[in-house]
Parts: sequence; structure tokens; C-alpha cells
Amino acid sequence: MSDPKRFLITSALPYANGPIHIGHLAGVYVPSDIFTRYLRIKGKDVISVCGSDEHGVPITLKARNEGITPQEVVDKFHNINKKAFEDFGITFDIYSRTSNKMHYETASQFFRTLYDRGVFIEKSSNQYFDPETNTFLADRYITGTCPHCGNDNAYGDQCEKCGTSLNATDLINPKSVISGSKPVLKMTKHWFLPLDKYQGWLKKWILEEHREWKTNVYGQCKSWLDQGLQPRAVSRDLNWGVPVPVEGADNKVLYVWFDAPIGYISATRELTDDWEKYWKDKDTRMVHFIGKDNIVFHCIMFPSMLKAEGSYILPDNVPANEFLNLENDKISTSRNWAVWLHEYLEEFPGEQDVLRYVLCANAPEAKDNDFTWKDFQARNNNELVAIFGNFVNRTLVLTNNYFNGHVPERGPLTQYDKETLKEITVLKEKVEKSLDSYRFREALKEAMNIARLGNKYLADTEPWKVIKDDRARVGTILNISLQLTASLTIILDPFLPFSVVKLREWLNFEPRQWDDAVVDPLLSAGHKINSPELLFRKIEDKEIDFQIEKLLLTKKMNREEESQLNPAKDNIHFDDFTKLDIRSATILDAEKVPKTKKLLKLTLDTGLDKRTVVSGIAEYFNPADIIGKLVSVVVNLEPRKIRGIESQGMILMAEENNGKLVFMSPAESVSNGSEIK
Ligand code: MF3
Ligand code: ZN
Repeated sequence: MSDPKRFLITSALPYANGPIHIGHLAGVYVPSDIFTRYLRIKGKDVISVCGSDEHGVPITLKARNEGITPQEVVDKFHNINKKAFEDFGITFDIYSRTSNKMHYETASQFFRTLYDRGVFIEKSSNQYFDPETNTFLADRYITGTCPHCGNDNAYGDQCEKCGTSLNATDLINPKSVISGSKPVLKMTKHWFLPLDKYQGWLKKWILEEHREWKTNVYGQCKSWLDQGLQPRAVSRDLNWGVPVPVEGADNKVLYVWFDAPIGYISATRELTDDWEKYWKDKDTRMVHFIGKDNIVFHCIMFPSMLKAEGSYILPDNVPANEFLNLENDKISTSRNWAVWLHEYLEEFPGEQDVLRYVLCANAPEAKDNDFTWKDFQARNNNELVAIFGNFVNRTLVLTNNYFNGHVPERGPLTQYDKETLKEITVLKEKVEKSLDSYRFREALKEAMNIARLGNKYLADTEPWKVIKDDRARVGTILNISLQLTASLTIILDPFLPFSVVKLREWLNFEPRQWDDAVVDPLLSAGHKINSPELLFRKIEDKEIDFQIEKLLLTKKMNREEESQLNPAKDNIHFDDFTKLDIRSATILDAEKVPKTKKLLKLTLDTGLDKRTVVSGIAEYFNPADIIGKLVSVVVNLEPRKIRGIESQGMILMAEENNGKLVFMSPAESVSNGSEIK
């Protein structure tokens, strides 16, 4: 594609209800910053916009829990997150927020334009309403029993125990989170964006015209489009958000996923009066950096909104990343399973580039990936210290020692010298090609190859030995090494901005443009350099052990907390207890229920009969291992069909806090059918 006149880079607006962790950085902000810095150093017209996403139900829930206003919640985290980004050198041109006036105006206007054009469908439907507090209840405000797994704390949109997505009306015994009362159904009107009408256009635009999008993004879009799109409500009954700018819409606000992406537009308007050229000129290339949970909103919903409005450009690419896990476990804010940016900086002050490096080198570009502290240490010690740091340090120290800090003259070049210099161009082009196609891991690897090249060059030419009898030759070697070092300050600039600033100071070298990386020489003979310090330090085992200990402690605390969250149930009458008929039984046969993860079909000898019981224990037991096992069974449960199999009873299991299941077997062998009471 021909080069655009300018670039508009957007990064997902993080919710202002919690701090930023390494998952956010790896998935969205490190790649977006690398890309933006790359374009800047190439001299492109580029702006990078971001800000806080300050609406949505979770923010109101948090405010309620803490007894403060939603505005107070977002004020706090907006400032914390803005600073965290600055601290890590994530250089947005603006970090705005969706609770500000400019955004309210922009989002209202956008809705109004679509409304006036008759884009929306108005529809009334029954929604849960809390009669005690007189408010409609968003799905997250309703809890109840999951109809699939029996979890008593399922939400109106999802059961977090079994992962099923739910409708609020599916819940058994629904309860309002706000008042605890039983919600009632009540009619309410909402505005829907008819995504089904954009389906044909989206199919063509994405599936045909954007085959170059990353496979994970393209695949998710295809699956949505193949399933068929439904109209989506773009308003909510809530009193936190942008009011729906229509007569008779009291206590209704724009759905957070309608207003938030418009936040990109508001932020640009806030940044420059000339904002329209970034949003409405076909010569602008817009790129959305996001995580995979945002794909549908950025590839389907927001483009449909932009298309409906008509005067805006569409994204050229949406290079979404998958998720980063931490030490083999999903990052979770509520379980405090994360490395928070502010915490990292307290423990590794000044070492932002190490984290940026590791998160890019190990970015979840094509699939979910794992961050481990051991890998963090290894990449620092074996790559940053041993390759980049070592090469730069040797070059600068030797120049200071042998030539008093002056760039030495270059004598006649050997074939090896020439090839080494030529290799800079080859590697620079590789980095470019990778960056241009959003392959940041690969780009970083190629950039580091320049340092690898330099290291090898020094190891092969051994200036510390040659110095004894050929000072001029050493001058040539160091001259070439200095050339590589100067190129590195350019090529690594997007990736390791803090180190590059230091290195430039030591080299006494001004910032240059991207293409200058292959100018030869970048440092002319006689140029005076300064004495270097260490670029990276070795990270010791004990620092890593400390981090791992800390995580283990988090696990332990979570377990304890969970056991407190599992309080005793209310008392029951003895009569109720005696209604249960529990017997000892032996498992005669066990097999997996096809196409399920958790279910085993068991045949039991209950002493009364032989019967079938379907049990959700397959994740913890192999069928072959449990045949012959003595168990306890509730034999008088109403039979129930599970996956087409009639299950006649239930095996008793103890469940540990981590979900592990253990059979409740008689401690000694008893005959089948013995009553348990
Ligand atoms: N706040 C959303 C999230 O963290 C992202 C919003 S991106 C938007 O998942 F800009 F479109 F709002
Ligand atoms: Zn469930």
C-alpha cells in the first residue's frame, strides 16, 4: 500500500477502576508505543491517543463498595494510570478521559447524528428492576444460582465458576446486588444499533479487503460474522455515563462500549484543532492497538458506528494481542495475581527498559503467553546484559582506554569489516519489515542482532590482544564498533528508549532519524565521547526468589480469603437432613462423556441396584483409576438427564478451595448399600 500522509495510533482506553499491570503493557501499550516511536523517528506525521475509560457498571459497583462516588474512583485511577504510563515511557500525545466535557459533547453529538438519521431501532423489553432502590439492574448487579453448575454466586451475564455466559433471566433465585431484594421484571426502552444491517458490508470490508490482519483478529471477526450479527443495545439504565441525548431518556446513558471508542475522537479534538484531518482524511492511516477481548468492539461495532456516521475513516489495522499469563495463571485484578507497574518500579527502580524488553520479546502476539520471573531474569542476564550491554560497554571502555575517549581513525578495511558494516543495512531493513507488519517480537530480535553482530565482531577481532602490536588496527575495529553502537541508538530507540538516552549521552550523540542508522560514519574520527556506566546490571537469584515468594504469598492469602468466603449455610431441621438417603457404593465402571471436559459416566453398585450416575469429576480423575473405588452416593435424588444420559444420584466429594476434588469414601471397607447418617 502507498505511504499514507499521516498516522493516527489509538490504544485501548483502560478502565479507570484499577491500576495497570504487565498484561496491559504487553498486550497493548508496549507495542503501540514501539510503533509510535518508530513512526516518529522516521519523521512521520503521527499522533498517539489514549485516555481513561471512565464509564461502565464495574466502576459504579466499585464506588458503591467503597462508599465513594464513581467520579472519585475514576479521578484516583486516572491519575495513577497516567503516571504509570509516563513512568514507563509510553509516550501518548494525549492521555485524556471520558468523563470530561469534550468527550460528553463529542459522544452526545455522535449519538444524535445517528439518531437523527434514523439509524437506531427503538425497542422495549423486560429488564430486572430493583423495587427497593427503584433502579434497573445491569446484568452485573444481579446474582443468583447458575442453572448449569449450581454456583450460588453467578452474575447476570456470566457464571465465573463454570464460565457459561448467561442472561439475567436464566438465574435461579435472582438477587439484587444493591439491596439484596428480589428483582422484578419491568419494561424499559433502549436504542439498538442494527449490526445485522452492516453484516454484508463488514464481511466484504474485513474478510475480503483485510486478509492481511493478524490471524487471531481475522479469525475472531470471521467467527462473529459467520454466526450472524444481532442488533446491540447502545443505551443503559444507569446514572453514570453520557446521558442519552433524546427527549424522554431520563436515567439512561450511552452504553460504555458506545461512548468509549468515541473517546479516541474526543482525545484527538482535545489535542488539536486540526483533529479532522486525522479522522476524516483518506490519507490518514488509523491503527487500533487493543487486547483480544476488545476485538469485536473495534472491528465490528465501532467501524459500524463510523460507517453509519459516514464522514470518518476506518481503521487500517487492528493488531490485537492475545493475553499474557503470570507464572502459569491468568492475570486477575480481583485475586491480585499481577505485577503492577508501580510495584515493579519500586522493586526495580530505573529498570523500565528491562520490563519493556521482556514484555516485547515474549509478547502474546499469536497466542496467550506466560510471564515468569525466571524468564525475566534470563532475558535480562543473557540478552540485555550479555549481548547489548556487554557490546556497548566494551566498545566505550576500550575507546576511552586506548584512545582517550576520541573516536579513532579508520584504516584500510578488511572484508570482514566491510561485511559487518553492510550487515547493519540488512538488519535495519528486517526490523522495518517486521515493524511494518506489527511483528514486534521479531523486530526486537532483529534489532538485537545488531548488538549480537557487534559482540561477535569484537570477539573475533580481539582488539585487547591486537593492541600490543597494531594500534592502528585497533583504531579501525573500535571505529566500526562505535558505528554499530551509534546505529543501535537509532534502531533500539522505539524499544528501549531509556537505555538509548543514556547511550546517546555517553556517545555524545544527538538523536537522529531512522534512516540515518545506516549512514556511515555516524561518528567521525576525533569525536569525543564520555565515559560510560553500566547499561544493565545482572539480576540476582535472590531478587527473583523474592518475587516468586511474593506471588506464593498472594496464592496463600487468596486461598484463606476464599475459605472465609465459603461460610456455613443456614441451619436446617433434622427432618430435612433425614430426607437424604446416602449409601456406600462401589464404582463398577467409569467412562468419559464424549465432548465434555468435566463429565464422567459412572456405573455404581449401590447395594440396592446397579445404576448410572453422571459426575463432574473428569478433570481430576482418570476413569481407569477409579474403578473399584468405594464412594458415598445420594441415592434418592430426583433422576436428571445430563447430556442425554439419565443420572440417578450424586457422588459426594469434598472440594478444596482451589477446586480440587476428593472422594468422601468410608474410611474402612463397608458393604455396598450401607446407610450413611
Ligand atoms: N476499557 C476497555 C477495556 O479495558 C477498553 C476500551 S477501548 C475503547 O477493555 F477505547 F474503545 F474504549
Ligand atoms: Zn455455572
